[in-house]
Amino acid sequence: MTIDSHAPADTEAVGAALSTRLLQRGVRHAFVSLCGEMGVGKTAFVRGFASTLGCRGVKSPTYTVVNEYMGSPLPVFHFDLYRVADEEELYGIGFDDYLARDGYCVCEWSENGGDLLPPDRITVTIARCESGESDRRITIEGEPDEDSCI
Ligand SMILES: Nc1ncnc2c1ncn2[C@@H]1O[C@H](COP(=O)(O)OP(=O)(O)OP(=O)(O)O)[C@@H](O)[C@H]1O
Ligand SMILES: [Mg+2]
Repeated sequence: MTIDSHAPADTEAVGAALSTRLLQRGVRHAFVSLCGEMGVGKTAFVRGFASTLGCRGVKSPTYTVVNEYMGSPLPVFHFDLYRVADEEELYGIGFDDYLARDGYCVCEWSENGGDLLPPDRITVTIARCESGESDRRITIEGEPDEDSCI
């Protein structure tokens, strides 16, 4: 699925739409990888994604690796692996434990997660467009369809 965004609010809305679909399909467990260069809008996407679970004040967890938001009906775990040096460091913060919990993991710079990333994941790629300074193309892959959910 590919959607065009022309402003931060659009990107937030695409994030909100994804979490809404997951909730509607009864998905209690998801890992969302956010790909795209620095400053492209990954955190903006997460802000929208988390908003449907009632989570406010989303900002980049760059210095803490993960921010936990006690959303309803599910928590959101917002990772930013930009500064994570290796898989051992990630393991050390309990990455595996987060994956095992009910809730939605959203992960910026998941490229640094290596083999610790779950194989079943939704990949969101945000790319700048030449058409305008605020234009982005957002591609969502690996989203579970209605049939694969209970
Ligand atoms: N269509 C758009 N969608 C999202 N952000 C946009 C858009 N147009 C402009 N922006 C601006 O781009 C910036 C995106 O910042 P954001 O922190 O979300 O990026 P990021 O990908 O998380 O960066 P980083 O890799 O540093 O974590 C904001 O300043 C926002 O206002
Ligand atoms: Mg960010």
